[in-house]
Amino acid sequence: MEVKLAKTAGFCFGVKRAVEMVYEEAKKEGMDIYTYGPIIHNEEVVKDLENKGVGVIENLTELEGIKKGTLVIRSHGVAKQVYQKIQTKGLTVVDATCPFVKKIHRIVERESQAGNYIIIIGNEKHPEVEGIVGWCQPGTYSVIASVQEAQKFDLQVEKKICIVAQTTFNHNKFEELVEIFEEKGYDRVVLNTICNATWERQSEAKEIAKQVDAMIVIGGKTSSNTQKLYEICKKECKNTYYIQTLVDLDFETFQSTGCVGITAGASTPNNIIEEVQRNVRIKF
Ligand code: F3S
Repeated sequence: MEVKLAKTAGFCFGVKRAVEMVYEEAKKEGMDIYTYGPIIHNEEVVKDLENKGVGVIENLTELEGIKKGTLVIRSHGVAKQVYQKIQTKGLTVVDATCPFVKKIHRIVERESQAGNYIIIIGNEKHPEVEGIVGWCQPGTYSVIASVQEAQKFDLQVEKKICIVAQTTFNHNKFEELVEIFEEKGYDRVVLNTICNATWERQSEAKEIAKQVDAMIVIGGKTSSNTQKLYEICKKECKNTYYIQTLVDLDFETFQSTGCVGITAGASTPNNIIEEVQRNVRIKF
């Protein structure tokens, strides 16, 4: 059995940095530490942090109830309003927003203040996008995720549009959607803010999936970048399995005749990837 493990599997730079920042804070004794939303889409890590006394605040209402302590902002980033709230409450902020996401905040803030209309290509329910939206002027943006939405889009006023992307958005789909806006003839500025880490992980996964007869994608069920990896791999290799940890891999139904590929989403810890890899090698 040959196992091809993707070099880009697992934590990206931004997630690694954010997780390390929380663990650093958790070492400090006698401090109330919270993260704004789970630090990453990985239940194992969130549970481990909970055992170390790190709480999770889900929204502004819950934030309102916090009297003191440190709030860690995760790599996804948050809306401007959240920083303002933290400041008025006198809490300490540890900002683990990924610098690539921070850059999008600065772009949309600048462009919407300049009177331009912002198009965010991404999933409007994703926390990163909710954060980006919170740096635009009210009513001056749209979130577009599909060809239908892009085709339906009609800017009633004469304005320049500024297109940015959720960092984990699929590269090819982004280009396809941008093309639709180009055809509409808007005066525009297009900033491809898809993170290279995502693109590299997606391309490597695709290449590996083409060469193997079974592919394993490891990551949290709610992790959008893992879901996308799964979709990409499934297209190339019908025999693709989506698992969160080794426990989900049913060796009875798992089918491979010779070569297995493994990749993992940006929020999958190394120990989980290694455990899967080791067991696949042992079992076959
Ligand atoms: Fe940052 Fe890219 Fe990761 S934007 S959080 S390094 S996927």
